[in-house]
Amino acid sequence: MEIKKICVIGGGLMGRQIGLCAAIHGVDATVYDLNPDVLAAVQVWEDDYLAGRIAKGRMTEEQVADIRTRYHLEPSLEKAVAGVDAVIEAIVEVQDIKAKFFRQLDELVSEDVIIATNSSYMVSSLFADCVKNPARLCNMHFYNPALVMEFVEVVQGPHTSEEVAGAVYELAKRMGKCPIWQKKEIPGFAGNYLIAGLTQRARYLVQNGYCTPQEVDIALEKGFNHKMGVFRMGDLTGIDLSYTMMKNTYERTGEKPDMYDVYEQMVKEGRLGRKTGHGFYDYE
Ligand SMILES: NC(=O)c1ccc[n+]([C@@H]2O[C@H](COP(=O)([O-])OP(=O)(O)OC[C@H]3O[C@@H](n4cnc5c(N)ncnc54)[C@H](O)[C@@H]3O)[C@@H](O)[C@H]2O)c1
Repeated sequence: MEIKKICVIGGGLMGRQIGLCAAIHGVDATVYDLNPDVLAAVQVWEDDYLAGRIAKGRMTEEQVADIRTRYHLEPSLEKAVAGVDAVIEAIVEVQDIKAKFFRQLDELVSEDVIIATNSSYMVSSLFADCVKNPARLCNMHFYNPALVMEFVEVVQGPHTSEEVAGAVYELAKRMGKCPIWQKKEIPGFAGNYLIAGLTQRARYLVQNGYCTPQEVDIALEKGFNHKMGVFRMGDLTGIDLSYTMMKNTYERTGEKPDMYDVYEQMVKEGRLGRKTGHGFYDYE
């Protein structure tokens, strides 16, 4: 089972990069988003990115022309998923919205088309009842920026077939990644499960006045050689994403996570991190 043609659902921060990474590595990739403005923005981003690669001498004109033949933006979901071997979902981190999408997708693709979710925390079993053949459903979790970061988690749920997880794992390798194949599900998978523990302690320190977010990052970056402290990383992944996940936890447990109000305020003010130029840090 070889994945040659994919569709990425959602042209946001992650989806556009996952699609382009696949196209760069020889896989035919179509990006679909329900918002046409997002697809227009992806076109501008793609042009800028590829022009930059040429300007820096990292790609030739011929290579870029070749990549462009494999990277497509499509405003119709039906057309976007036609003839694909796999669909990678990268829409908002809200369970009900993802579930609704999987039900819709199930009506459009045949039962052997692989469906992978790029969710940051949600295991694919949460969506097993949304599709007719859950054996073709798994997690494929990329890290931001997906064009650069090599780590990918392929997570095989109890419903996922070995063949499907293997094909997704091979796709990750073909995309130049260094994947792991987790055969047991845990929310957040290996990476975000680990980082959640650290983040929780970091937020506890700030919430209770022991130090500022910037001081937490200094401790991690200068004391432990982390490339990025957790708050700097939060700016990169998006304050809105962190807030959505905190909100999910709050709703699920009834316990307000540390720094919840701070994140809520930042979202209200549009301080979403790097993408808006301001977050815990200011950017050019
Ligand atoms: N941001 C990160 O650093 C990061 C890292 C790893 C994984 N993820 C996960 O990737 C997914 C996407 O995150 P993101 O940061 O790219 O989000 P984003 O908000 O930047 O992009 C989401 C896109 O999905 C589109 N969308 C929403 N509902 C849709 C639907 N029903 N059909 C088609 N398009 C739809 C939106 O228009 C938007 O363009 C989430 O599950 C997130 O947890 C994010």
